[in-house]
Formats: sequence, structure tokens, C-alpha cells
Amino acid sequence: MKVLITGIDGYSGWPLALHLLSRGHDVVGVDNFVTRKRVKEVGSWSATPIPPMPRRLAAVKEVLGKELRFYRGDLSDWELVRHLLETERPETIVHLAEQRSAPYSMIDVHHAVATQVENLTGTLHLLYAMKEVVPEAHLVKMGTMGEYGTPNMDIPEGFFEAEFHGRRDHLPFPRQAGSWYHWSKVFDSGDVMFATKIFGLRATDVMQGVIYGIRTPEITDHRLFTRFDFDETWGTALNRFIAQAVLGLPITPYGKGEQKRGFIALEDSMQSLRLAVEHPARPGEYRVFNQFDAAYSVNELAERVGRVAADLGLHPTIEHPSDPRVEAEQHYYNPIHENLLGLGYRRTRELDDVIREIFHDLIRYRRRLVARQHVLSATVNWRLPDSRPLLRARNAAGASPTPPPVDPTAPSSAHTVA
Ligand SMILES: NC(=O)c1ccc[n+]([C@@H]2O[C@H](COP(=O)([O-])OP(=O)(O)OC[C@H]3O[C@@H](n4cnc5c(N)ncnc54)[C@H](O)[C@@H]3O)[C@@H](O)[C@H]2O)c1
Repeated sequence: MKVLITGIDGYSGWPLALHLLSRGHDVVGVDNFVTRKRVKEVGSWSATPIPPMPRRLAAVKEVLGKELRFYRGDLSDWELVRHLLETERPETIVHLAEQRSAPYSMIDVHHAVATQVENLTGTLHLLYAMKEVVPEAHLVKMGTMGEYGTPNMDIPEGFFEAEFHGRRDHLPFPRQAGSWYHWSKVFDSGDVMFATKIFGLRATDVMQGVIYGIRTPEITDHRLFTRFDFDETWGTALNRFIAQAVLGLPITPYGKGEQKRGFIALEDSMQSLRLAVEHPARPGEYRVFNQFDAAYSVNELAERVGRVAADLGLHPTIEHPSDPRVEAEQHYYNPIHENLLGLGYRRTRELDDVIREIFHDLIRYRRRLVARQHVLSATVNWRLPDSRPLLRARNAAGASPTPPPVDPTAPSSAHTVA
């Protein structure tokens, strides 16, 4: 099948490309490298060194023996999107190319606006270009479990039966997002659902849980690594905790630490996306997959990281700074996730094993963590209209007087900073 991946340079786009290629699919990708730029903007970098795209493509050819075609471009550019679809005529489009950091969207008004304008524009451009050029194609759109928030009831897969004043209907489940970024995903979901209705497009909206891990079976060479963000803005809680443990710092769950979220290993997220690609929605169908394996509280993550760290001779303490976010710190959480099982999905990775694997990779790149360790501390605060002064002050205080080392522990000279 011919698959277009938008956001192919990203954390999940890259391993998805490798996975689909290894399963015999024809893969083409587009990216504008904005995640690389924005991670740099907040003073950080990927713990794993990520080569520039030409070297990534050469490594794919050398290691996997596969050809991966790449377009550099921004989905905010309508002509580019239409041209891309006219040239490539994909059967499936996996749409990952969005600003994906909740804290980044909360920095100030400009970051909030950029997040929502870019995310909604890219999705609308794709929907219109699909209608014009490839109306039979299937859109696999990456949403997030964060769209639902944390309601005090079970969370269905997209829709539920509701009764009000004696009448019943099958309705989209209410969304209660917790950041401007998450709201952009909610609006996207509405737009994708509407496009299936008016244009008859096929779409799968993936409510993606938090993904963890660096490795997949296709990542057999350091040149094929995917990025691993650990700073407060781009790194997940689990990523930050492991980085803190490697650096000998306390692990810091925000607030009470009882915030629960759904999680899935990178390898299993790739399996799920492949299943969605290989089993397309019907014309006019809008279907929703809740894509995660298990829910963990932030405290549970911290404890698990602490246990694996102890096995490795590290003994991090756990501290609870106040929560910079506005969110329930203790709540009910029970989302349903059955649709993917019906397509043959099976969990293959356990959290503790993947945590151990991440430790091994991060210990290898410890010098890159040391050079940027100040980016672990929280500066973006949901209650402040402008967190930039705090962010700048932190980076000024943390910046080393000499330029940071370009990864002396890297196993080859082929590395550049992402
Ligand atoms: N990683 C997770 O845990 C997670 C969880 C839930 C949802 N998601 C969603 O999955 C998708 C992919 O996430 P990720 O972690 O791989 O993010 P990422 O930032 O690592 O990758 C996104 C890629 O898209 C590119 N991009 C962004 N805007 C673009 C645009 N307008 N035009 C072209 N390229 C653009 C970026 O440069 C980047 O390479 C996102 O939509 C995100 O919201 C991710």
C-alpha cells in the first residue's frame, strides 16, 4: 500500500516509516523540521542524536535496503499539500504533523495561537486535498486521549449512547481538553468527522495515549534512532523521570502525582497504526480508536522508574513540586480500548522492560543530558499569561559558559544535534 506520513521526521513518524517499509509498504514522507527548531527554541535537544534527513534516508537504504521518499514542506502551505497528493496519490495518509506539546502551547498567546492555527490549517488542507485529489484514500489522524480529559465516568471510543429528556441518541463523547494543544486536537476531531460526512472521506481518529520507548525492532542501528525529548516542554513525565534518575537528580511528579493517563509502548503504537492502515475505514466512515495499553498514575511511573534505577545502582529520591498545570490531581480514569483488539492488536511490550531499555540508551548518551540538565525544571505555568521570562531566566542560569559538547560518547561521527 502507498502510505504518506506527515511528520515523518518526528518521534513517532520515523519509526512508523521504518515499520511500514519493513512490512512491504511504499512509504513517502513530508516534514518541515519544526519540532527540531522548537526543541532548540526552549533550550533543549533530543537525548538521542538525530542525523539530518539526508543521512537518515541513506541509513534506511543501507540498513534496511529500502527506498524512502521525502518532501520538505509545511502543511500550512495549501499548494504544497495539493501538489504532494497529486504527485504521490497515496492510498493512506497518516497525519502526525502537528505541534504536539501541551506546555509549549501554554507558554504565551503566540504559542497558543501558533499551535491552534497550524494544527487546524494542516488538517483542513489535507481534508480538502483528499477530497480534490484522492477521495478514496484513508486518513489515519493522530488525536490524543487528552481530548477526553478526566471525566468521572468510563470513557468510550469516541461515541456513546446518551439519554436526555426521554430521547436517546448515539453522540460524540464530550471532550474536556486540558491545554490549548489538546483543544486543537478536539477541533481537529470535529473537522475530520465533518469531512467524512460532507465529502464521504474515510477516516480513523486515533486517540493516542502517551507513547514511551526509543526502540522498535527496525531500529537496529544508531543512525535509525528516533528522537527522545526529556525537557519540561517536549518530554513526557516518564522521559523526564528517567533522565532525572540517570543524572542523579530527584524524580519530580507534579502535585499529588495521582494524575492518571493511558500509555502504550512505541513498538505497540506502531503495530496499532499499521493495523489501522491495513484495515481502512469505509467510505464516509469516521471511526475512533482509543490507543493505549494500560493507565498509570504519575506516582506509579515515578516508583517504577525508581525500582529499575535501583537495579542499575542508581537511587533517585522522589519529590513533589507544585503542579504548574491546571488539572485534577486525583480522579477516576477508565477509558475503554477494544476496537484495535478486534483488528488483531496484541500488546507485546511491558512498561518495566521498556523503562530498562530506555535507561540503557540514556546512560550511553548521559553527556547530552548533563549538557542540558537545566531544561528539566518546570517554568511553563498554566496560570500565567506569559511564561517566557521564567523560561529565559532558567536557560540563562543553566547555560554553560562554554559551548556544550557535541556528544563525545556518540558511537560515530555521523551525529548532529537535533
Ligand atoms: N508522542 C506521544 O506520546 C503522542 C501522544 C498523543 C498524541 N500524539 C500525536 O501524535 C503526533 C505525532 O507526535 P510525535 O510525538 O511524533 O511528535 P513530533 O513533534 O516528534 O513529530 C511531529 C513531526 O511533524 C512535523 N511537523 C509539525 N508541524 C508540521 C507542519 N505544519 N508541516 C510539516 N511538518 C510538521 C515536525 O517537524 C515533527 O517532525 C502528533 O499529532 C501528536 O499530537 C503523540
